[in-house]
Amino acid sequence: MKRSTSNTEEIALVVDWILSAQKVVVLTGAGVSKESGVPTFREAQTGLWQKYDPHELATPEGFLKDPNLVWSWYDWRRKLVMDVDPNPGHYALAELERCLPPTTKFSLITQNVDDLHRRAGTKAPIHMHGSILIFKCFDRGHPQKEVPFGLKQPPKCQCGSLVRPDVVWFGEALDEQVLNNSFANADSCDLMFVVGTSGLVQPAASLPYAVKQRRKRVVEVNPDTTPITEIADVTLQGPSGDVLPKLVEQLKKRLAG
Ligand code: OAD
Repeated sequence: MKRSTSNTEEIALVVDWILSAQKVVVLTGAGVSKESGVPTFREAQTGLWQKYDPHELATPEGFLKDPNLVWSWYDWRRKLVMDVDPNPGHYALAELERCLPPTTKFSLITQNVDDLHRRAGTKAPIHMHGSILIFKCFDRGHPQKEVPFGLKQPPKCQCGSLVRPDVVWFGEALDEQVLNNSFANADSCDLMFVVGTSGLVQPAASLPYAVKQRRKRVVEVNPDTTPITEIADVTLQGPSGDVLPKLVEQLKKRLAG
């Protein structure tokens, strides 16, 4: 593990790794959206789970106990996500995908339920934890059409069940196809970027370990230390909206030169 605060030398090294990779995978977490104004979960003072109880708001039991409370909380977060814009970190990741040599494969896996990667131009982000903009019914998972903002209680599906956001709550299994796709990507890349995640929530947190098990490279982008820092080949220390544009700028210079 190498840490870097100025990042300049490390960025040059990481650019070498990108250029020699056949497949680059990016795993993102809440930190990548922080500079857009979307709060993270576990940071002291500002993290959502400092203020709110995840058992009340992000479990099926919590929803059944107080559907109106959970509904209102997600309604607030959905509005927040729709009112903000992608930040330079999201745009740099979209640019990374675009500027890679045509033979280099690319995938982006996010734990975030916002759509900021897609809005920034990432072609097909894999949403491990679902989307706060999509709804399904609680009992049978029937997909729902658009749901207006500001409802004080969840609407009902045609089948009579309550409607809920199509996100993964604690205690729920991830979509099998999404999970398999995520691990297939980790199992076939030469280089994984781990951006803005505390690396504490499974199974997403296992993806970089799967990469290291095959002795491939992991580069972390995070202002703080996480469990991933221990296994990362390099940690580019800093906000992703600052570090990633610098990295992509250097990559483009090398590609042009
Ligand atoms: P966390 O809140 O656990 O971690 C956010 C990470 O972002 C921390 O490591 C911060 O140091 C880092 N960070 C803060 N500012 C940053 C910046 N400007 N640039 C880059 N990194 C920054 O969020 P996640 O790891 O995404 O799950 O949390 C994982 C899952 O836990 C979420 O998807 C959510 C939550 O419960 C569900 O809702 C199922």
